[in-house]
Amino acid sequence: MTTETEAPAPQAQPLEATRAEALAEIAACADARALADLQRKYLGKAGVLAAWMARLPTLPAAERPRLGQAVNLLKKELGAQIEAREQALEKVALESASAGGSFDPTLPAPAVERGSLHPLTQVTREIEDLFVSMGYQIADGPEVETDWHNFQALNIPPDHPARDSQDTFYLEGPGKLLLRTHTSPVQVRTLERLKPPLRVIVPGKAFRNEATDASHEHTFHQLEGLVVDKGVSVAHLISAMKTLLRGIFRRDLEIRLRPGFFPFVEPGFELDARCPFCTGGCSVCKQTRWIELLPCGLVHPNVLSASGVDPNVWSGFAFGLGLSRLVMLRFGITDVRLLLSGDLRFLEQF
Ligand code: FA5
Repeated sequence: MTTETEAPAPQAQPLEATRAEALAEIAACADARALADLQRKYLGKAGVLAAWMARLPTLPAAERPRLGQAVNLLKKELGAQIEAREQALEKVALESASAGGSFDPTLPAPAVERGSLHPLTQVTREIEDLFVSMGYQIADGPEVETDWHNFQALNIPPDHPARDSQDTFYLEGPGKLLLRTHTSPVQVRTLERLKPPLRVIVPGKAFRNEATDASHEHTFHQLEGLVVDKGVSVAHLISAMKTLLRGIFRRDLEIRLRPGFFPFVEPGFELDARCPFCTGGCSVCKQTRWIELLPCGLVHPNVLSASGVDPNVWSGFAFGLGLSRLVMLRFGITDVRLLLSGDLRFLEQF
């Protein structure tokens, strides 16, 4: 087989000899792979003609234009010859396959398999459409975060016990970087970037260094929401959450708020919705008729101050939807680990 390393040094022979040799090799070439090798040998970045070009600056100035032009012409000629040889080889292969009866050009082509949108993408797009229609922007942030954005600016100082509930993957190297444990750091980044009033949602991945089971994965999706304006109250939060649930489940669901502790909201809540799948208890709601859906609350004044927003003027609410769990509910998926498994038998169902 011909390879690039066999390319003769340009000094060893005049250009005409190179041309004759190349044309002979192309004409004698009998298969597509060898032809591709020849193309690299003569026309590749480190090929014979490139070596001729590289030699130009060492030649007397008067010779350079003539030789440069000749090399360019040869490049074109060899390219055309290789293409023609490729087509000839294809034709021969086709003729011999149909002569042997193994290929019938009149048969319909095999059906092309079509992909489909991942269930996470489907639900994310629906929620994005809903919030965009209410004037929210869609924000994004890095998955590799600083301790400041993931914890400290969210009112979680070093050694705060709340860090224990979000086991963290730390990166080696300087800066104590980490994989974000939630989408809440994008609240901070948004407050740094945009001036209130603002409304954003942030769909994205979060990572936790925890044991996996049917409802816990080390990599999962959340959807954060943040609204900052003047006079924002729990009533605004409840109204937005009801709209969100109506959009997702396509009907009004009864909700209840329980106190929930997150250092970056005050007051903080866990929002439960009436189980949309039963009337008398089922396995999804574990016979309680309620499903735990949405941690949320009013943005803590310390979070606003940390990002330079005056809490005496502005207030807001935030929520952190467990998107992976919601997708499971929506499609009746029983194991969160299937979502990012890449298993085609699972994905083909959507
Ligand atoms: C948080 O992550 C807070 N940042 C949410 C928040 C935002 C509260 C804004 C208040 C205001 P929590 O750790 O509870 O909270 O996670 C939120 C949701 O993520 C959970 O309800 C759950 O649905 C989902 N979740 C958490 N850990 C996992 C996991 N390992 N696998 C799959 N989903 C998970």
